[in-house]
Amino acid sequence: MSEEIPGFGSGAEAARSVMKMVEMISGYWVTQILRATAELSLADHVAAGATTAQEIAEREGSDPATTYRLLRAASSIGVFGDAGERRFRLTAMGGLLRRDVPGSLREMAMVRGAPLHWQSWGSLPDAVRKGTTQMHAALGLAEGATAFDYFGQHPEEGAWFASSMSNATGMVIDDVTGALDLDGVSVAVDVGGSTGALVQELLKKNPGLTGVVLDMSHVVDSAVEAAARAGVQDRFSAVGGDFFTDVPAADLYLLKMILHDWSDTQCLTILRNCRASAHPGARAVVIESVVGSPGEPSFGALLDMNMLAATHGQERDFDEFDALYAESGWRRVATRPTRTPQFIQELEAI
Ligand SMILES: C[S@@+](CC[C@H](N)C(=O)[O-])C[C@H]1O[C@@H](n2cnc3c(N)ncnc32)[C@H](O)[C@@H]1O
Repeated sequence: MSEEIPGFGSGAEAARSVMKMVEMISGYWVTQILRATAELSLADHVAAGATTAQEIAEREGSDPATTYRLLRAASSIGVFGDAGERRFRLTAMGGLLRRDVPGSLREMAMVRGAPLHWQSWGSLPDAVRKGTTQMHAALGLAEGATAFDYFGQHPEEGAWFASSMSNATGMVIDDVTGALDLDGVSVAVDVGGSTGALVQELLKKNPGLTGVVLDMSHVVDSAVEAAARAGVQDRFSAVGGDFFTDVPAADLYLLKMILHDWSDTQCLTILRNCRASAHPGARAVVIESVVGSPGEPSFGALLDMNMLAATHGQERDFDEFDALYAESGWRRVATRPTRTPQFIQELEAI
């Protein structure tokens, strides 16, 4: 006989709904388990042959008993498997938390549980009440300060953020390089390009192309270093500047995960600055998540809450993007999905 569960009726399905709600309520436990796993390099240690808590604790300088408990918790969500005799093995998914491997998400795990995101999310109810982010209050910053100002003042967390953006670029890079026809493009500017992962990949695949990253002055040195590591430094430059003031001239503007950081008014300034410097026949490529309809499972709708918590921006649907383009001298001419929630939107200047 099924047990009656108040508010959910009876039976196994009802019990699953209750447990699903409890797990969602406790979702931040998973964020911090993954953050701790990444910060203590557990996946790297296990991959390197340290498969017990004792061995890892010796290498990491951590407490063996609590290291065991963290390994056990991470194994309960699929990061590690049980190798018997209190040993752990790395799963394919857990391998994503290794450093410096293709597809690594290690820095994303670290930064999404670190103070900027963690404390900003704690002020989400206030942000909804007041209609704008309360991240400045949560982090003790001046009103109007942005996440990017914070990262400039907190270089270690800022470096994790920049790496996490490269992690995220890795998830779409094949779709983007496969979709883009760079015929007639001599100069591409990666607007707010961070370490330049996107434009540097295009440089590798297109020997006639010259690439520029425009980003804040505290970011551009890391873009120059990344270009040297990618072997494209001869055709690459980085400009420390402000896309609200000026954007370098180009045939192609890359705006990946830029517009979602800003209000409509701020987006119009960025898009107009690109349009103002554009070479004749210039194009732009916007790579962003796109919000679906209410009721549909939507990573974009969840990411929208992240933008409310931690930035002055928002996620948008196609109509909202098109309205911005129409007011800033651009028109969307092609749209392609990627294997992630992000879409590639190709624009031409009008
Ligand atoms: C969400 S990240 C996206 C980075 C990169 N496009 C990507 O997708 O990996 C936003 C970037 O915009 C840069 N940024 C923020 N404000 C800026 C400004 N006023 N001028 C130029 N870059 C800016 C940040 O430093 C950061 O690298």
